Amino acid sequence: MSSPLDRVKEYEFPKVSDPRGNLSFIEEGRHVPFPIRRVFYIYDIPSGSTRGGHAHREQQQLVLCISGAFELRLTDGHREISIPMNRPYKGVYVPPGVWLTMHDFTTGSICLVLCSGEYEESDYIRDLDEYLRLI
Ligand code: TYD
Repeated sequence: MSSPLDRVKEYEFPKVSDPRGNLSFIEEGRHVPFPIRRVFYIYDIPSGSTRGGHAHREQQQLVLCISGAFELRLTDGHREISIPMNRPYKGVYVPPGVWLTMHDFTTGSICLVLCSGEYEESDYIRDLDEYLRLI
């Protein structure tokens, strides 16, 4: 049986390095498999915090760690994938139907998320039991 976890994909974005520092860029049509309708970012994260803890019904996301490091955990309720996030030029595509949590943020880390839709609370499944029933 296919799982939404099978559609999780790691992306590597262009990186332009020169003596002044590195620059990466992301273009909707070239580097992201959905139209970007919203961008949000999480920062000033106290140590020990866990973020996420939900799945999306329809929306697709691309999660980046543009500073510092954290661990991205993705599950379908049966299998779990854990991805170390610590490269600003990498991102992880998270399709709908995947339960996502983020852990072990280092001081000063920043998580940037590109989303396929505007913020809509009705797109979230925040109750793990409900998620496990639906999946
Ligand atoms: P939440 O979904 O708990 O954050 P995370 O999953 O990253 O841990 O969101 C925290 C609050 O922010 C919640 O009240 C909803 C609000 N919010 C918006 O208003 N717009 C957004 O784009 C996002 C992602 C959250």
